[in-house]
Amino acid sequence: MDRWNNKVAVVTGASSGIGESLVKELVKNNVKVVGLARRIENMEKIKNNIKNQKGAFYPIKCDVSKENDILKAFQWIEKNLKTVDILVNNAAVLTSDLCIESSTENLKNVIDVNLIGTALCTREAVKIMRANNIAGHIININSIAGQRVAFFNNSGFNMYSPSKYAQKAMSQVVELELEHVKSPTKVTTIFPGLVKTEMPPQEAFKIIPYVDAEDIVNGIIYALSTPPHVQIKELTITPVPGYQRK
Ligand SMILES: NC(=O)c1ccc[n+]([C@@H]2O[C@H](COP(=O)([O-])OP(=O)(O)OC[C@H]3O[C@@H](n4cnc5c(N)ncnc54)[C@H](OP(=O)(O)O)[C@@H]3O)[C@@H](O)[C@H]2O)c1
Repeated sequence: MDRWNNKVAVVTGASSGIGESLVKELVKNNVKVVGLARRIENMEKIKNNIKNQKGAFYPIKCDVSKENDILKAFQWIEKNLKTVDILVNNAAVLTSDLCIESSTENLKNVIDVNLIGTALCTREAVKIMRANNIAGHIININSIAGQRVAFFNNSGFNMYSPSKYAQKAMSQVVELELEHVKSPTKVTTIFPGLVKTEMPPQEAFKIIPYVDAEDIVNGIIYALSTPPHVQIKELTITPVPGYQRK
C-alpha cells in the first residue's frame, strides 16, 4: 500500500458497513480519505475514533442520488486536497418491495443511487485524475446479485439486481474508455456475497453463511496493493458454504 501514502481516496457510503471499515483501513495506511454519505453524524463519530491514525478522514454530507451534492463534494476535494487518486463507489440501497407493485419513486431511487451515483462520481473523479495525470484506481462495489438474481423472503429486491448488473457493465465501459484515452487508471469490480452489515434483511444471517465487512476490505486492499501495471478486474468474495462459524 506504500504507493498510496498520503494520496487521496474518495469512498461513497462511508457512514456504515463496508465503507466504514474501508475508511478505517485506508486511514491506518496513511491515506487521506474523503467520505460521502447522508449520515454525517455517523461519519463524524468515525472521524473521532480514528483521529490518532496516520492518515486523515474528511466526511462530507452528500446524497449520491443528487448531482448537485456530488458536484459540490468534488469541488471541495479539488479546492482543498487538489486531487483524487482512488475512488470507491460503495454507496447503495436495497429495497424489498416487489417490482410489480413498487412506486415509481422507489424503482428510480435504486437506479439513481446504485447506478447513476456511480456514474457521476466516476465522471467527476476521472476528470480530476486526467487533469493531474494520475494513475488512479476506481473500485466499484457490486454484489453477487449483479451476477445472479436472488429471491429471499418473498422478495427479488426490486431494482437492486438490475442496478448491479448495469453497474457491472458500466465498469467494463469505463475500463474501455480509459484505455481509449490512454489513461493508466485501473478499474476493479468487487462482487461480495452476503456481508454482515445493516443492509441485508437481518434474518438472512441466521440461515445463510456470511462474511464480515473486513473480509471485503481485505479484497479491496489486495486490489489496491497490486503494482501499477497489474489490474484485478473482478473479485468475487463469498463465504465458504460448508464452513460453520462459531
Ligand atoms: N451487505 C451485503 O450483504 C452486501 C452484499 C453484496 C454487496 N454489498 C454492497 O456493499 C456496499 C456497501 O453496503 P453495506 O453492506 O456496507 O451496507 P450499509 O452499511 O447499508 O452501507 C451502505 C452505505 O451506502 C450509503 N448510502 C445509501 N444511500 C445513499 C445516498 N443516497 N447517498 C449517499 N450514500 C448513500 C449509506 O450511507 P447513508 O445512509 O448515511 O447515506 C451507507 O454508508 C453496497 O454497494 C452494497 O450493494 C453488500
